[in-house]
Amino acid sequence: MVGGVAQRLLGSLPAPGGIFAVENKRRAGHGGADISIIAQPVGQMQFHTNVMLCPIQRNCGQRHQGDGHAEQIQILRNAWVLISQGQIAQVGTGTPPSVNGAQVVDAGGKLVTPGLVDAHTHLIFGGWRQNELGMKLHGKSYLDIQNAGGGIQSTTNATRQATEEELTQKAAKALDEMMRFGTTTCEAKSGYGLALEHELKQLRAIRRLQEEHPMDVTATFMGAHLVPAEYKQDRAEYIRLVCEEMMPAVKEQGIAKFCDVFCEADTFTVEESRQILEAGLRHGLRPKIHADEIESIGGSQLAGEIGAISAEHLIVCPPEGIASMAKGGVIACLLPATSFCLGSTYAPAREMVSAGVPVAMASDFNPGSCPCLNLQFVINLGCLRYRLTPEEVLTAVTLNAAAAIDMADRVGSVEAGKQGDLVIWDAPDLDYICYRFGSNLVQTVIKKGRLV
Ligand code: NIG
Ligand code: FE
Repeated sequence: MVGGVAQRLLGSLPAPGGIFAVENKRRAGHGGADISIIAQPVGQMQFHTNVMLCPIQRNCGQRHQGDGHAEQIQILRNAWVLISQGQIAQVGTGTPPSVNGAQVVDAGGKLVTPGLVDAHTHLIFGGWRQNELGMKLHGKSYLDIQNAGGGIQSTTNATRQATEEELTQKAAKALDEMMRFGTTTCEAKSGYGLALEHELKQLRAIRRLQEEHPMDVTATFMGAHLVPAEYKQDRAEYIRLVCEEMMPAVKEQGIAKFCDVFCEADTFTVEESRQILEAGLRHGLRPKIHADEIESIGGSQLAGEIGAISAEHLIVCPPEGIASMAKGGVIACLLPATSFCLGSTYAPAREMVSAGVPVAMASDFNPGSCPCLNLQFVINLGCLRYRLTPEEVLTAVTLNAAAAIDMADRVGSVEAGKQGDLVIWDAPDLDYICYRFGSNLVQTVIKKGRLV
């Protein structure tokens, strides 16, 4: 970074590169016009700010670097960003270059960060499950409801009845709402079809959204979300279907990058999960795993052993699981809004950071355990429940989240060569968005250099 950079040092700072947020403080007598973003329809955008807050350490986003701490945030004051053809061309401070015909976007004295990345959603589903609220209030647990035919099975029934078009339209509406809350990239899982035809239908809906919606969406195959009712007496046959019929079709159509499995009591055992994830690897799908959400049965240990790109939930992750993830280079993708919704405890995030496990945070948006798609609430919970610092939390929903879906080379930070994805917040600094909750503090979203 060029002159005028102020660094907020909470850890050692290695060479520049990585996330930044822009924190715009008004200069005396300058009103609110300190930040500008310049863009033009052909794709030139220039962003100018007075203060830029910039994590320059990628250690939590790059699994093999650093110590797992996400406390390297750099603040750039009087800074600007030039976006050209959807990509960040230049970042600087001081007087911005004058670019002919570029559209200038004035951030008006507000905080700017990279676009948020939601690394874990169950975006594609039919129906909702508000009927389960009453059951919960009468003391039924998540697994009680699931075992009584509610839960994932009931969403599977609704998803099987929906057409690809209906699923796509419904998910597009959810993506619109996510973008209004500041998310510019997300992951989306299948897993409510639980039959070849319906899993492929879900993944095709994701592919359509990739083509038609401004959100970047990356797809995960999760045929092993639950053994569906019709295979309850023959789970081995269902697992065979997942591995030998669904996976080859997913591979052939090239419609997913990752394979996820719900490794949990009453769903898939550790050995079944291993079998499924190893089959996924043979079909070119990188492993992810829902682990230690309700009971600790060994999912996080498996994540480390198998070299999963990420392990999700980890609410009741034991020390051996943390050690295994650290050894295996696994990113912990924590979902605090699910803990909130289930009324459960919160994942041991600090222990993970201390052990050198990079921590990402995501929404887990789904119709059952977390009908919430607002990453701002996740940010609040990251601070207030995990006790992570605002800098760690920002990193968890940007660069680390990008790494958890293998997109850290393209999104998750504001640096030359990455996509022009920015959020202008109605906030003066990072602490403010971590401390305020219940409001949408996003002022403007910029996706690939365009205002959305
Ligand atoms: O991540 N735990 C498994 N899957 C989702 C919940 C799915 C559902 O309840 O529909 C989760 O919490
Ligand atoms: Fe999930």
